[in-house]
Amino acid sequence: GLNISPLLSKTGFVTLDSGFVNTASCTSAVTYIDGDAGILRYRGYPIEQLAASSTFVEVSYLLIYGELPTPAQLADFEDRIRRHTLLHEDLKLFFNGFPRDAHPMPVLSSAVSALSTFYQDSLNPFDAEQVEISTVRLLAKLPTIAAYAYKKSIGQPFLYPDNSLTLVQNFLRMTFGLPAENYEPDPAMVKALDLLFILHADHEQNCSTSTVRLVGSSQANLFASVSAGINALFGPLHGGANQAVLEMLEKIARGDDTADTFMEKVKNKQDGVRLMGFGHRVYKNYDPRAAIIKKTADEILRGVGGTAGDELLEIALRLEEIALSDDYFIERKLYPNVDFYTGLIYKAMGFPTKMFTVLFALGRIPGWIAQWREMIEDKDTKIGRPRQVYIGATERDYVSIGDR
Ligand code: ACO
Repeated sequence: GLNISPLLSKTGFVTLDSGFVNTASCTSAVTYIDGDAGILRYRGYPIEQLAASSTFVEVSYLLIYGELPTPAQLADFEDRIRRHTLLHEDLKLFFNGFPRDAHPMPVLSSAVSALSTFYQDSLNPFDAEQVEISTVRLLAKLPTIAAYAYKKSIGQPFLYPDNSLTLVQNFLRMTFGLPAENYEPDPAMVKALDLLFILHADHEQNCSTSTVRLVGSSQANLFASVSAGINALFGPLHGGANQAVLEMLEKIARGDDTADTFMEKVKNKQDGVRLMGFGHRVYKNYDPRAAIIKKTADEILRGVGGTAGDELLEIALRLEEIALSDDYFIERKLYPNVDFYTGLIYKAMGFPTKMFTVLFALGRIPGWIAQWREMIEDKDTKIGRPRQVYIGATERDYVSIGDR
């Protein structure tokens, strides 16, 4: 019933593509995905190789600058990040303004937004030096902000970063350490978290990355653009899925449903219930990130010393088993995505469910930065401004209030 005449605009045909299922918004040289074959590459390097051999900071360098660093380049990059981990003391006060039970995601996005007020010397998107310093500030400060958001929620004092540690070690210490304690991050946990960050580091034009680019296309600065991306990631159909998966598994573990009765509800679309952590807009095959995590989930769960995840892991495996042999899921090409197993690992590491999406944001930060920089450097970038197909009333005359 659409009137198609408005589809022909002055600039040519307007296509209606709800959810941008078939519309590319940009060209990009950062990340390659083949959803049918289950392939993911950062700057041409297969995710499996990066997961096996690289580190999160090295992958960040690769995504942002396009090439793997030499030892000297990596050492310099790590050093620059280390110098910027501290938060301005006034920014620390910011955390006191939120209610204690605040979800850490809006706290994170607010604090990142506030960086525009603290670093007014690095807001010009067309000044390469300023972009460089805001890049390093974001990479360095996000773990500190995330750890403070967590400390605030449990009423514990903030810890200053210890710059003799690596980025991941530092984050774990600021999150789980106490001022009077000599916290030593568990090497298995450091390795596992580094791996999870690598797997989340970029995923081409997903909802949050497209948001970063769209906001940035108005020439908004990097902090403002990334803050918008964090808000997009907060949604349960995107980054919030890792939290939703664990809540789903816990509900089944409590006995509200069995794995089988739950799956019946999913298939009948009862109350709009979905199998969280399943399905993906682009992957119509096993998500390669989920394959890497599944392979290591067992090992990681044992490595971080937890048995708490065991029952939930059993439920997850059972749900996956049902899904992979059921016509509903087969016909729709629904496979586990990256978030199906991550929540279990985060829980075993001791993170509360509310922090899961924050961990996703920490991993995704290099991807947002790389994509924002690519967008700003592209001379063909125009302000993002989609068209619409109007379906409202045709022209009608105003009726004064007494006559309605
Ligand atoms: N459980 C049950 N059914 C599903 C699921 C699911 N998880 N995902 C899709 N479907 C069904 C839909 O109901 C629809 O069925 P229909 O044709 O009978 O109506 C069909 O599969 C196609 O689904 P769409 O929603 O059109 O697929 P879309 O590409 O828009 O959605 C999405 C992708 C949002 C990821 C979806 O699969 C979903 O909601 N998954 C659960 C949430 C989740 O895990 N999100 C994380 C995504 S990955 C990430 O952000 C890292």
